[in-house]
Amino acid sequence: MIGKSVIILDFGSQYTQLIARRVRELNVYCEILPYDTSVDFIIRKDPGAIILSGGPSSVYQKGAPMPEERILKIGIPILGICYGLQIIACLSGMKVESAKEREFGLATLVVIKESKLLKGVDKSGRVWMSHGDKITQFPNDFIVTAKTENSEIAAIESSQKNIYGIQFHAEVVHTDDGKKIISNFLFNISRLEENWNMRNFILSSIRSIREIVKDKKVILGLSGGVDSTVLALLLKKAIGKQLNSVFVDTGLLRKNEYSTLMRRFKNELNLDVTGINAGEEFLGELKGVTSPEKKRKIIGKKFIDIFSTVEKNIGKVEFFAQGTLYPDVIESVSVKGPSATIKSHHNVGGLPKKMNWKLVEPFRELFKDEVRDIGRELGLDEKFIMRHPFPGPGLAIRVIGEITKNKIEKLQEADYILKEELDNFDLYKEVWQSFVVLLPVKTVGVMGDVRTYENVAVIRLVESVDGMTADWFPAPPEFLKRVSNRIVNEVKGINRVTYDLTSKPPGTIEWE
Ligand code: XMP
Repeated sequence: MIGKSVIILDFGSQYTQLIARRVRELNVYCEILPYDTSVDFIIRKDPGAIILSGGPSSVYQKGAPMPEERILKIGIPILGICYGLQIIACLSGMKVESAKEREFGLATLVVIKESKLLKGVDKSGRVWMSHGDKITQFPNDFIVTAKTENSEIAAIESSQKNIYGIQFHAEVVHTDDGKKIISNFLFNISRLEENWNMRNFILSSIRSIREIVKDKKVILGLSGGVDSTVLALLLKKAIGKQLNSVFVDTGLLRKNEYSTLMRRFKNELNLDVTGINAGEEFLGELKGVTSPEKKRKIIGKKFIDIFSTVEKNIGKVEFFAQGTLYPDVIESVSVKGPSATIKSHHNVGGLPKKMNWKLVEPFRELFKDEVRDIGRELGLDEKFIMRHPFPGPGLAIRVIGEITKNKIEKLQEADYILKEELDNFDLYKEVWQSFVVLLPVKTVGVMGDVRTYENVAVIRLVESVDGMTADWFPAPPEFLKRVSNRIVNEVKGINRVTYDLTSKPPGTIEWE
């Protein structure tokens, strides 16, 4: 149904996920696998093409990540990007050395020979370079098809072996004809079909969910966010009444969120949802806890305890469903390659190691915008689909330091004002995520004639595509003025508002 896919071997580049996005934007399914995945495993997957990603290493260093040598001999078309090109070079007996002139940033690509890969590409377009090594010798069965000022060898190919390599990053938007190059590789060279779209994904997921779940029961924790809601709609289609959706009031949700959403789930989305009021329990367990990771673990465990009590009421459950997305997987556990663990998002890393249920995570390989497209296919309204993401641990990771009921209430009020003003200024759609953070810092102020000594709140608005990287949103001053005035005047206990000007990296989106 989905057709032949592409396998991307990850050698640790910060751009590996971008390669996946580009391939999927061209409607071809792809998967990222660790660089040392065995060739036998790859062959069993029967991919239509393989892409070797970039990476921070040098092929001539001891212990540099390498695929099995015979990967170049299995007859599946291969494209190597940056470090991936150097792997091809190294495994084909070419020589790779440290370059005198390292090349970072934009360069002009000069196409010097007719090339299947570079067909239709601007003969002197901009490309994004990021490398310190270069190929200095290559055997006769490859031709050099392009160069830049600092790289005599910027693209090579052997149409006879169906192996192609580029020194620059075709996957980043700064490369003018990057999409064209990837499209040439997928369609003209690898003869893949455009089969990957959300409708096909829905149909094939429904089939595989039914095959896995059979007649067993599944519990799904709804967070009120887009991912778990879309998952509920998908699971309902796949397994109907075997799905048991649960929405927990953790006491850490936004103001009015629990009651509003319970109504929507039942009345508008026709979902049969069990609501559980556990605010006091969560706050009790979190008393005195200040470490962000500890907060996540406690909350993850508490969720599972609550779902276990649900199981007591409904009978034996075999599966636990989660709307885990690809960026959660990459940032929480280095399962897919040499990348570092950033935070243990509760969707993935915050769950207890020992759990009696098997996981059902159909969105594990997807990006958020793809899940939004599935939501559209399943009839979810646009306003819900474009809701800003909200983390599983909720406001617990936005009250910095120890959590109390009073602090949560302050934060809820401030957060509510922010949301109202985003709507008033018609800015909600412009930002990817928006929230207020409450700091355990008190500062002096003056209100009327009275000295105040109260907490600081931070407004955080970010632009992003998938949460992997983000930039702070250049909000209009009138909007910031209005939000700040309202928070200080209307929320008792906050007397100062600041604006967060940090991008990700080096910051993260949440403060904890
Ligand atoms: P960071 O702070 O890691 O956030 O830059 C990236 C995105 O992930 C959300 N986030 C979480 N979501 N459980 C979740 O379900 C978590 O523990 C968690 N921590 C961060 C965050 O809101 C942002 O959208």
